Amino acid sequence: MASEHVIEEKKQGQALVTKGKQQNTKKLFIESYGCQMNMNDSEIVASILANEGYNTTNLLEEADLVLVNTCSIREKAEQTIRKRLQKYNRVKKKQNKNMKIGVLGCMAERLKTKFLDEEKMLDLVVGPDAYRDLPNLVKEVNAGKEAINVLLSKEETYADVSPVRLNSNGVSAFVTITRGCDNMCTFCVVPFTRGRERSRDPQSIIKETLDLWNNGYKEITLLGQNADSYLWYGGGLKKDFEKASEIAQATAVNFAKLLEMVAIAVPKMRIRFATSNPHDMEIEVLHTIAKYDNICKYIHLPFQSGSDNMLKAMNRQHTRAEYIELIDNIRNIIPDCAISHDIISGFCGETEADHKDTLSLMEYVKYDYGFMFAYSERPGTLAGKKMEDDVPLETKKRRLQEIVDLQRKHSHFRTKEFVGKTMEILIEGNSKKSDKHWKGRNTQNTMAIFAKTGNEKVGDFVQVKINECTSATLLGEII
Ligand code: 5AD
Ligand code: SF4
Repeated sequence: MASEHVIEEKKQGQALVTKGKQQNTKKLFIESYGCQMNMNDSEIVASILANEGYNTTNLLEEADLVLVNTCSIREKAEQTIRKRLQKYNRVKKKQNKNMKIGVLGCMAERLKTKFLDEEKMLDLVVGPDAYRDLPNLVKEVNAGKEAINVLLSKEETYADVSPVRLNSNGVSAFVTITRGCDNMCTFCVVPFTRGRERSRDPQSIIKETLDLWNNGYKEITLLGQNADSYLWYGGGLKKDFEKASEIAQATAVNFAKLLEMVAIAVPKMRIRFATSNPHDMEIEVLHTIAKYDNICKYIHLPFQSGSDNMLKAMNRQHTRAEYIELIDNIRNIIPDCAISHDIISGFCGETEADHKDTLSLMEYVKYDYGFMFAYSERPGTLAGKKMEDDVPLETKKRRLQEIVDLQRKHSHFRTKEFVGKTMEILIEGNSKKSDKHWKGRNTQNTMAIFAKTGNEKVGDFVQVKINECTSATLLGEII
């Protein structure tokens, strides 16, 4: 199925490594596919296994344990992972017969024991809420058995596990704040693979953030499948909030409050968050973003479709008019805010008129960038069970291309707005093309490239004047 991420690449499928503990002798090769949450989960897994004697390696052939953290969001993501498993199996057969192979994450949860039946050389299947059980499961595997744990949890947030930062630039890190999703969009597999929504203790979030600051990190992204729906009332599922005691309800911490607590705790740290569901985003959050300089002026606000018919079929729980009202509020309260989107083309029953509604909504907002996908039917979802995947692949692809082309135009329109302006950029590392140049982002999350002067280093905030741009990148100079 065609899918395209425009503008922003996601780091995927590379071996994730870190320094590790000196006394550890076993080698773990771990790869991550899918969302940022999966990346952060891999860091949690590496932390748990570091205590079991495993250090990470980027050499597949020498690994004692190979883990792939999987994604089920589209059929193509699952196909990519099947290919990786074949590759691991070839290496195991030819070069390292003792190697153990395991799958983690969403595909593990979706396929459960079926995975062990289908993939003959698989040793281990572990769902997203069962990583604490890895020490036991790995022992079983090392004793020659197959091991599986795909239990979903009401409580698990790994709040006390300190993730080891894998492939880190030492500047930006992810901090998970909620897990699971209760929204039940009809196209989406996530509620089935990651279970019900629960939030993490704000004190543990602040502690992790302070630790990161003390270790030199300058930017965090608070992660949740639905970050704005964050609600801490002492633990437990979001859906059980009404059953909590009066005191628990009265002292609950919502997302706006959490953002404020974090912004105050680390006043020089840049704070980002993802993902926002329009249905759950409250005005209070917009005021909090506007109030604190260290909260980045950028919102990722998927809308999936601009047509009310499609939004209803997708069970998005908001209308086009409500979404536009939210956009208008963002523009009024945070005038310099960048906005990005996710769009699905060719959902069940989508007509040409529905598609035009998507294009016209894009025209209204002129997003800074976006992630665009052709609809991919997922088994077990409501759409998979009850709706007909009736838009021909060619039509999905053509509509997707029209969306991608329009987005490219809008991205360029947005980057051009920065030309001539001077802005604060956080240096993330060398530019891909030249080590004489730095790369870094502005608060709106737009990438900038500029020449080194010799007086600055990775992790510094610098003032950059933007002279030119492409549709994805700003080109400037330090002033
Ligand atoms: N087909 C295509 N895209 C999907 N997404 C989620 N489920 C599907 C699917 N079945 C997209 C949505 C979501 C993003 C993470 O992935 O746009 O916001
Ligand atoms: Fe993929 Fe969604 Fe699971 Fe993330 S939560 S790994 S995007 S299916």
